[in-house]
Amino acid sequence: MNTPFLLENRRRMTVTVRQHIVECLEAHKGEYVSGEELAAGIGVSRAAVWKTIQGLQEEGYQIDSMPRRGYCLALESDILSREGIRPFLDSRWKDIPIWVHDRLDSTNQEVKRLAAEGAPHNTVVIARAQTAGRGRLGRSFASPQEGGLYMSVLLRPCVSASLAVDVTTLAAVSVCRAIEKGSDKKPMIKWVNDIFLNGKKVCGILTEAVSDVETGMIDSLVLGIGINVTTPPEAFPPEVRQIAGPVFEPGEKSIPKNELAANLLNEVLGHAEELGSHRHMEEYRKRCFILGKNVRFHKEEKDYTGVAKEICDDGSLLVALDQGGDIRLQSGEVSVRTD
Ligand code: BTN
Repeated sequence: MNTPFLLENRRRMTVTVRQHIVECLEAHKGEYVSGEELAAGIGVSRAAVWKTIQGLQEEGYQIDSMPRRGYCLALESDILSREGIRPFLDSRWKDIPIWVHDRLDSTNQEVKRLAAEGAPHNTVVIARAQTAGRGRLGRSFASPQEGGLYMSVLLRPCVSASLAVDVTTLAAVSVCRAIEKGSDKKPMIKWVNDIFLNGKKVCGILTEAVSDVETGMIDSLVLGIGINVTTPPEAFPPEVRQIAGPVFEPGEKSIPKNELAANLLNEVLGHAEELGSHRHMEEYRKRCFILGKNVRFHKEEKDYTGVAKEICDDGSLLVALDQGGDIRLQSGEVSVRTD
């Protein structure tokens, strides 16, 4: 049976002239590629190539054209696209389905929709902006167009919802590694799923379970990651400006978003193969900046203070309470006390 997902997939599998040109230019960013070579690669005329290039320039691609040399995509051109991501992916992930949208309500929601249509394990959805980005604890996640990377991955088959915490902690480690791979930044984890840099939250992670409508059983997980790569302060809503910040400040040299997305996928998909082994937890603990710190948190209508003592392999946090005794937090949020 041809499900809507399969039909859509087949339609998009046909490589268009646009896709071919973007892929060639992204793979040779900063270099000239001749119109002849681009045309021969997909069997169209040089005039068709020129028309496509003009369309790309209108979309915002910074492409220089030079007689006898061809076309060159500027190094600073930074538009997220499937074609821009693929050259940086490990060979074992080259064929995973990747959908890149200009704008979506939420990439997590889109992955859930695709999952219902039968999308396979490792389906990736990326948006350049979200209009209803979902955060943890029922909150929203500010997802402005300027400088953000919003990505969700479908992980299946998944036998247990308890693996959701594992997915979240491995994603946190993966985000830190992906940022460090292309820069000298030293991001840190704030239990359980926030990534901080220079005292500001630069990334949030939300793992959601998807259940089968007929059986009611969990059949997959959706891992959503939102990174403020180069988001300028004014792009954030006023209420989050004190908390949220970008990985790269305005004017700083940043990792191109396509490369960052690929680095992140290489890390996440690799780690996800070992789900349940907790192998990443030692690194998670080393990167978590709340251990040994005085923290406060709210649980079942009460406020508590204490010292963050230990993070167990299942992702739970042990806090030595100021009032005496220990408490184990399976999820939730703590803040570091500065008083
Ligand atoms: C949080 O910090 O509360 C979690 C934020 C998770 C945001 C990401 S952005 C990509 C994916 N799509 C969503 O709607 N949410 C996640």
